[in-house]
Amino acid sequence: MKALITAGGRGTRLRPITHTSNKHLIPISNKPMIHYAIEAVVAAGVREIGVVVNPETIEELEKALGSGSDWGVHITYIIQEEPLGLAHVIKISQDFIKDEPFIFYLGDNVIVGGIDRFVQAFSENTSDCHLVISKVKDPHRFGVPELKNGRIIGVEEKPRSPKSPYAVTGIYLYNQHIFEAVHAIKPSARGELEISDAHQYLINQGFSLSYSEVTGWWKDTGQPGDLLEANRFVLDQIIERPHGPLVEGEVDSNSELCGKVIIEKGAKIIHSQIRGPAIIGEGTVIENSYVGPYTSIYHDCHIKNSELEYSIIMERCRIIDIDFRIEKSLLGREVTLSSGKSKPRTQKFILGDESRIEL
Ligand code: TTP
Repeated sequence: MKALITAGGRGTRLRPITHTSNKHLIPISNKPMIHYAIEAVVAAGVREIGVVVNPETIEELEKALGSGSDWGVHITYIIQEEPLGLAHVIKISQDFIKDEPFIFYLGDNVIVGGIDRFVQAFSENTSDCHLVISKVKDPHRFGVPELKNGRIIGVEEKPRSPKSPYAVTGIYLYNQHIFEAVHAIKPSARGELEISDAHQYLINQGFSLSYSEVTGWWKDTGQPGDLLEANRFVLDQIIERPHGPLVEGEVDSNSELCGKVIIEKGAKIIHSQIRGPAIIGEGTVIENSYVGPYTSIYHDCHIKNSELEYSIIMERCRIIDIDFRIEKSLLGREVTLSSGKSKPRTQKFILGDESRIEL
């Protein structure tokens, strides 16, 4: 079995971060988001992975993931010239998949508990397509399956009146019949080859669709709030150690670490309080500051005389002398927030396109 992981798309809802970077590399609990997808398919026994990426960010992604040897697998990069939909992703990957069954995994989905159970259910069910579904509060935002006698008998994309309380998640299993479907369907009104249309095509042609329900936690991290929630959830999985936090860096005697906290190599905590769940990345310095629950601070940041919580801070950010608490924030690479000392004391901003600030 092979796996196809998406790492393309536009990422418009995560601008401005996605103006300069591939969203699948945004860290969740200090690990690039796409690592969770790779780890899940590797744990399910896959050794050949295709990663579909747009031409603008292929270099960045290749640099970050390499050949796949870190996971003992082989990664093939497949370029999608334009984001023409999920069924289009499958269409352009046929040469890579050939006639093997495969896992199609959206690289911005985070699921806790792995996918082995779904892979096993797919082989036991002997169906042509196996969808992983999850009960959600707002099914009208997703592809919604209609279920009958343990099979899927219809799939509608973002329906006004959902036929079930379930969403189709970003984890799918297919045999080669999916290629018939992605070649047969036509672009939707928004100009994309929709995966729900491909599923409906399979149903109309008499192929069988089975499903598994996610019983644990799953999140599609398309928007900043979803990323913060995924970060919260993954940080919560840090195991509380009987002898206190995992400290690979330095913590001075004037600092206090509380609860599930990880201090990575080369990080320094000086006269500060870190209240977990939280992770402080390699080479980061926290001075005279408070870092509260559900915060991930990536590599080589400097936080001084400031307070923050429930946030994701990417590498080489500087937060200096901020006299209000920062929360629910997502900071891209090398962002500086500091307090101006000169008079008059005004607020000064240098912001990229589509930045958002709430004061
Ligand atoms: P989406 O979140 O639906 O789209 P997006 O990433 O472009 O984001 P936005 O809606 O904010 O503009 O995509 C789900 C996953 O599929 C994600 O991993 C990106 C990927 N994708 C592709 O690789 N190619 C595509 O043509 C599309 C539509 C998505």
